[in-house]
Amino acid sequence: MTPTLPKGKLICVGTGMRMAGQITPLAQSYIETADVVVSAVPNIFTRKWIQGIAKDFICVLGYYEDCDTDGKDRRDTYRRMADTILAQVRAGKTVCAAFYGHPGIFACISHMAIKDARAEGYSAEMLPGISAEDCLVADLGIDPGRTGMQSMETTQFMIYERRIDPTAMLVLWQPSLAGELSLKRFESTAARIQVLVDKLGRDYPLDHTVILYEAATNPFEKTRMDKIRLRDLPTTPMSTTTTLVIPAAFALKRDEAIIAQLNTLPEAPLLESETA
Ligand SMILES: C[S@@+](CC[C@H](N)C(=O)[O-])C[C@H]1O[C@@H](n2cnc3c(N)ncnc32)[C@H](O)[C@@H]1O
Repeated sequence: MTPTLPKGKLICVGTGMRMAGQITPLAQSYIETADVVVSAVPNIFTRKWIQGIAKDFICVLGYYEDCDTDGKDRRDTYRRMADTILAQVRAGKTVCAAFYGHPGIFACISHMAIKDARAEGYSAEMLPGISAEDCLVADLGIDPGRTGMQSMETTQFMIYERRIDPTAMLVLWQPSLAGELSLKRFESTAARIQVLVDKLGRDYPLDHTVILYEAATNPFEKTRMDKIRLRDLPTTPMSTTTTLVIPAAFALKRDEAIIAQLNTLPEAPLLESETA
């Protein structure tokens, strides 16, 4: 006999970046039909919109104030948010957890909640959403397939040894928190951003053009696509919604040895289906 799953259920959805317009019909239908929607969406208009269509709504945004408490940091806040989601699932409800953008991109709460819910035997899934990266590809007209794309969190790039390929585009998330190691503050300093520039300077010329990108989140906002020189980053204002885009600085270089090796291989035999 197939074991029956406990009754609670979790679906993590993304609302996209732009208020109400970038959500998938499936994600919207979960928001409308779930017993409760738990949300950490910072945009007030999106939040009000969700609240208006949800049967019941729990906003966990205020949990960020926990960071003001001694000994607590962002990781404690994320844990508390995931625990709130889990408590609703354990109460036997169908829970929709709504996050802006894609619910699984730079959004550890959804990953934590899904892992915990599954470990306790509940059904839990994630639906994809439109992320900041999706929007920047569209707005900046840069096809990541042309040079390849590297994408990582800014502070992670700074504090770990990473091999950057300057012939591919580099997307750095959360540059406004560059080098913020306390995990308590939501801003960086010019000195820390200078450390970022110095590290990027190992692979890129300091006069390389980089783009500060902020997708419009409602029809009244204008998308920010400011092109500046890399060296000017510490003196250029950034916000919590800025993503730093560093286009390829050098042309792709052919790997002649690999090309020669490939050319020595026999032609691939045709598949049976192709000869029939
Ligand atoms: C915690 S991550 C959330 C990403 C989100 N889950 C997504 O799918 O895009 C926050 C970072 O996303 C990027 N971001 C958020 N809002 C943005 C916007 N309106 N335009 C560009 N990037 C944005 C910034 O790099 C910001 O620091």
